[in-house]
Amino acid sequence: MADQLTSLYPTTLMRRHLPNMEEVNRQLAGIIAELAATGPNMVAGTSNVGGFQTREDLLAENNRFAQHSAMVTLRSHFIRTIQDYAKLLFEQECMRNPTNVDFMLWGWGVSLKAGHSQELHVHPTAHISGVYYVAVPPGAKGETSTNGKIRFYDPRPRANMNQLFTQITRHSEIPAEGDLLMFPSWLEHSVAAFEGEGDRICIAFNVRLNMS
Ligand SMILES: [Fe+2]
Repeated sequence: MADQLTSLYPTTLMRRHLPNMEEVNRQLAGIIAELAATGPNMVAGTSNVGGFQTREDLLAENNRFAQHSAMVTLRSHFIRTIQDYAKLLFEQECMRNPTNVDFMLWGWGVSLKAGHSQELHVHPTAHISGVYYVAVPPGAKGETSTNGKIRFYDPRPRANMNQLFTQITRHSEIPAEGDLLMFPSWLEHSVAAFEGEGDRICIAFNVRLNMS
């Protein structure tokens, strides 16, 4: 009889490419640039080292860009992806699927230039978090260096007690325009600085689920 193998407490990172977003991304980059020019910059007290961060109401219905077509498109993609990811999460984490699910979504834009980074952090008030890449400069697209990558760290604290030779303790994803990453909000992550011209622009979001 074959051995029975059980993968306990897996952590699922979802990466989805949103197609045909070139024009939407151009408009989103314009919105973030306008907010950066008019302020306020909300980086103080966040994980950002340098850079610009919008307020956390970027996706709110009363935001001045809420009815902008690029924002409406992005929001609908976010909602569809959240629904798909939440389904995976319930199957993976819960004893049974909830009968009723409602969620609160909020988001913010981040624009980093060369030398800017994000220190290791989690998103403590949410269940699911995500990041969508609006613009990725050439210096953040490298596949061999760590430049501009987002890193996710092994969430099992005791798994790092006596490390195996070459044990994998972190996982990096290379940002790409039009790609959306989703992960549990408790999963520690950071962003490495890149070099060169351009802005690395993303829109991050949190989801808080209400289930019964
Ligand atoms: Fe984050």
